[in-house]
Amino acid sequence: MTAFDRDGLIRTEDGEMSRVLRTIENVAASRATVLLLGESGTGKELLARMIHAKSPRNKARFVAINCAAVPEGLLESELFGHEKGAFTGAHQQKCGKFELASEGTILLDEISEMPMLLQAKLLRAIQEGEIERVGGRGTIRVNVRIVATSNRDLRDMVRRGQFREDLFYRLNVLPVRVPPLRERPKDIELLARYFMEMSSHRNGRAVKRIDLEAMTKLLNWSWPGNVRELENVIERAVLLSNGDVLRERDVQIDGDRLANADQNLQTSAAGLTAGMTVAQAEKALILKTLEFTEQNRTKAAQMLGISIRTLRNKLHEYGEMEVGHVG
Ligand SMILES: Nc1ncnc2c1ncn2[C@@H]1O[C@H](COP(=O)(O)OP(=O)(O)OP(=O)(O)O)[C@@H](O)[C@H]1O
Ligand SMILES: [Mg+2]
Repeated sequence: MTAFDRDGLIRTEDGEMSRVLRTIENVAASRATVLLLGESGTGKELLARMIHAKSPRNKARFVAINCAAVPEGLLESELFGHEKGAFTGAHQQKCGKFELASEGTILLDEISEMPMLLQAKLLRAIQEGEIERVGGRGTIRVNVRIVATSNRDLRDMVRRGQFREDLFYRLNVLPVRVPPLRERPKDIELLARYFMEMSSHRNGRAVKRIDLEAMTKLLNWSWPGNVRELENVIERAVLLSNGDVLRERDVQIDGDRLANADQNLQTSAAGLTAGMTVAQAEKALILKTLEFTEQNRTKAAQMLGISIRTLRNKLHEYGEMEVGHVG
């Protein structure tokens, strides 16, 4: 490994983030469930991997599953496995993620998107250390450390009856808020330089520094996509640059477009016409918002005030509509 390889290290000079790292170090060795709360791209997965790496479980597997990305009907079998013939298409017995992670750590990403029925089964896995494969007759003992992430307010979901209260308390033993990048100006500088070095090396460039105007632009942006967005912006800047300095014009934050957010949204509102159905207007708004967030579904769902699952289902419908009725 060279100095330019991804090493999974969490770089920070921010006080709050350093506190997060200390908390993580302190609890890593225990079996305690950790709930990482933070916006998309803040480094939750990196933290989850660090918890695993610093625990006595690091010889066993770290297994991640995104509860929002797996179709609802398949989530149970993904988590807990299934027996042969349990449902159409279950040609073979299959081990679930919980079994795979046995003696190790499981990362349950976007836990808020787990259906209620499965929440009950998850609670049992946590409380009794027991799971049941889909179509299975007996229970299987598992010893898994759980790290969950959410960027929705679970307490609020409990109030609305969308999340089980008992599961919430089980998960909320050690809630850790991962601060968004815009609250960590020192990290914007540190990570911008780090990504610049990596990208410069990877692309055979000789970029060595970021000038003041460019850095000011970076510091003034709100980073809705957090560290992931910063990494992309720096990669683009390195490719656009010539010479050894990154300049303001190389830093093309989509914010040049996003800064006019209100204007953008107004433009699209003007596109609404009487005679459109509510469904058509909804589709237009969803597609517009996705364009705005550069297809970041998590962010788009937040802006639209709907769950990621709902957003995915809608997109699925639109996809089918396109296949179904051409023209
Ligand atoms: N402090 C950091 N130092 C170095 N790299 C970082 C840091 N934080 C995040 N990254 C990098 O930024 C990217 C996003 O991080 P990560 O996947 O952990 O975020 P996340 O919170 O899980 O995002 P999402 O909610 O979208 O799943 C990754 O490529 C990760 O390696
Ligand atoms: Mg993640």
